[in-house]
Amino acid sequence: MPGRNFLFIPGPTNVPRRIQNAMSVEQEDMRAMDLPDFTKPLYEDLKKIFKTKNGRIFIFPASGTGGWESAVSNTLSSGDKVLMSGFGHFSNLWIDLCQRWGLDVQAIEVDWGEGVPVEKYAEILAADKNHEIKGVFATQNETATGVASDIAGVRKALDACNHPALLFVDGVSSVASIDFRMDEWGVDLCVSGSQKGFMLPTGLGIVCASEKALACRENSNLPKTFFDWNDQIKTNDLGYFPYTPPMNLLRGLRESVNILNEEGLENVFARHNRIASAVRAAVSAWGMTPIAKEEKWYSDTVTAVKVPEGFDGNEVVRHAYNYYNLALSISLAKIAGQAFRIGHLGDMNELMILTPITGAEMAMKDLNYPIELGSGVAAAQEYLRKTATPKIK
Ligand SMILES: Cc1ncc(COP(=O)(O)O)c(C=O)c1O
Repeated sequence: MPGRNFLFIPGPTNVPRRIQNAMSVEQEDMRAMDLPDFTKPLYEDLKKIFKTKNGRIFIFPASGTGGWESAVSNTLSSGDKVLMSGFGHFSNLWIDLCQRWGLDVQAIEVDWGEGVPVEKYAEILAADKNHEIKGVFATQNETATGVASDIAGVRKALDACNHPALLFVDGVSSVASIDFRMDEWGVDLCVSGSQKGFMLPTGLGIVCASEKALACRENSNLPKTFFDWNDQIKTNDLGYFPYTPPMNLLRGLRESVNILNEEGLENVFARHNRIASAVRAAVSAWGMTPIAKEEKWYSDTVTAVKVPEGFDGNEVVRHAYNYYNLALSISLAKIAGQAFRIGHLGDMNELMILTPITGAEMAMKDLNYPIELGSGVAAAQEYLRKTATPKIK
């Protein structure tokens, strides 16, 4: 097939050429005497991405799910009570993981289209006078619905009643794309992965742990081997790993952090917001809405576009792929068919984002959606033109 497939799913995201080149190296000795010169600065620079001074980074040859497992199994104990909320496929999977680990999960069911119920959390935490809740969980960006949550608000709820529970955050589709502040928000565990904001292939589970979370490992009784932090700490401190590390991905991660730093994290967040706003302008021009119910829930990394009654959003995805070589993302689980998703994170700019808007529009028109061809593209173009700034200063 001539031309290329256009990938606009919310992870894996497009891998910039610079990162591809950085990964395209000969295999190397993971016990080489100069490896710490590479690994130690990488850990330090990653801490800046998570905005932490005293936190600690763990990098596992895994994915976000492995990161979840590492965060839970090193800090909690069997039967520990945890407060969670489910409002999409991924927040529900996290609940499932904690249940399978034998935790006593209080899971609040939230309408899909909303996010972490901060006020409800505040009530429950205030009522927990004996501090039985050991962990409070929040998915910062629910990738299935395109909903972003207020992590600072969860910290406020904990602080309001001096609650000592650990704060766990899923940052898989937010870190390095949407503002995240480990120290300022008092986050104890943040889980991310390589294949979204870090613009790498899948294969790394990246976890950031606070000093308080690190101290919890002494009392945690959940079984662990592959994800055991103690093994990591012993070897990472020397610049090495307890088992064979995925060196090509780590070389790519170095380049990813370089790229993020060159742009500047705040500029990265602003770019994501602008690109996401262009997508939302298109959705609105189509006479449609995001699954996210209110502006405060809008995600800057993924938009789940709600399709009109009687239409199947997943058919748009199949049609766009089949006819136009465009990869959009299907809607999952409870909202399967009610939406299609456009991923707009990572290595992304103005003209790139017009591609999925164009393709979705063509697919919807083919499938007899009541939209006007060009309407979404024009709205996004207008927004991008109005907010454009010169690239060369
Ligand atoms: C918010 C969120 N959490 C967790 C995961 C699971 O991560 P992985 O698929 O890398 O294991 C995903 C995957 O898309 C996700 O979007």
